Amino acid sequence: MNNKITSVVAGATKENFREEVLAGLSQSPRQLPYKFFYDELGAQLFQQICDLPEYYVTRTEIEILRLHGADMAKAIGPQIELIGLGTGAGTKTRILLEELHDPAVYVPIDISKEQLEKSSARFREMFPALQVLPVWVDYLEPFELPLPRRLSSRTVIYFPGSTIGNFEPETASEFLARLVDLAGDGGGLLIGVDLQKDRDVLERAYNDAAGVTAQFNKNLLVRANRELGADFDLNRWQHHAIYNSTEGRIEIYLISDNEQTVHIGAREFQFRAGEEILTEYSYKHTIAGFIDLARQAGFHFEQVWTDGARWFGVFYFTVAN
Ligand code: AVJ
Repeated sequence: MNNKITSVVAGATKENFREEVLAGLSQSPRQLPYKFFYDELGAQLFQQICDLPEYYVTRTEIEILRLHGADMAKAIGPQIELIGLGTGAGTKTRILLEELHDPAVYVPIDISKEQLEKSSARFREMFPALQVLPVWVDYLEPFELPLPRRLSSRTVIYFPGSTIGNFEPETASEFLARLVDLAGDGGGLLIGVDLQKDRDVLERAYNDAAGVTAQFNKNLLVRANRELGADFDLNRWQHHAIYNSTEGRIEIYLISDNEQTVHIGAREFQFRAGEEILTEYSYKHTIAGFIDLARQAGFHFEQVWTDGARWFGVFYFTVAN
C-alpha cells in the first residue's frame, strides 16, 4: 500500500520553530505560536482535550455531523474531491466520508506528520475506492495540491474543529479568501465554527479540572526545551484561559509565577513575576458575523447546521461558477 506523504513545503521544522519562538518571545506582549502545540505529545493531549467533560466543542460538532450529515452530503453533491484541513485523527472526516455520495479523492492536509500517516493508512483501508493523497505542510503557508488526481465533480474543503477560531478576524478573512481560490469555481467549504455563549461554559472548557489543557499549553515549553535546548522550568509557569467578551475570544496564557530567566541557545529572556506569554486565541463567532466574514472573503452562504443549544455551527459555503 502506498503510504507516501507529499511534502511540498516541510511541515513544522526545527528551524522555523526556533525562529518563531525567538521572535514571539522578543515581542511585547510576548507570544508563542499556537501551531507548534501539535507535536506527537501535543496531538495526543489535544485528543484528550476533545474527550474532556468540559470541552463541549468536539462532542457538539460530532453530534451535528451525525444528525445532519446526510443533509450535508446532499448539499455537497456526489464524486467530489475533499480537501481536509487540519483534520488530525480524522474522526469527523470519517463520519462525513461515510455520508458523502461516492467521494473520489481525499486530500488530508496536516502539520502533524504522525497523525497524517496514521489516519491516511486507516482511510485507505476504510474507503478502498477513495484516492487518498496526504500532504504534510503548514497550510498557513502557500502550498500546491498534489497531482495527478482522479476525476471529480468539484473540490470541497472541509475545515472542522473551529480551527478558524485561532485566527484574528483580519487573518481569518484573508485565509478564507485563500480557500476561495483553493476550492476554485463551483467549489465549496464545509467549516465548523464555535459560537458565542455563556462565559462560564467557555472558561470551564479551557480551564478543565483535570488539568489537561494546562499540560497541552505547557507542552510548548516542553517542546522548546527538547528541540531548542531551552531551560523553561515547568513548575514556574501557570496555565490561564480567560474569555474576552469584547473581542469574542478565549485568550490562553502561560504566566510566569516569579521573576525568572530562560535561556534558548545563546539568547536570554527575563520574565517578571506575573508576566504573561500569549499562546492562543480561540474566537467565538455569531452565525451572522461568520456568514459576513465568509461573504467578504468571496464565499456564497448556503446553509448552517447547529445543535439544540446553538453552541456550535457547521456552515456550508460555495464559490460561484
Ligand atoms: C483546535 C483551535 C479548535 O480553540 O478550542 C483547545 C484548541 N486549545 N483547548 C480550540 C484548544 C485549548 C482548539 N482549536
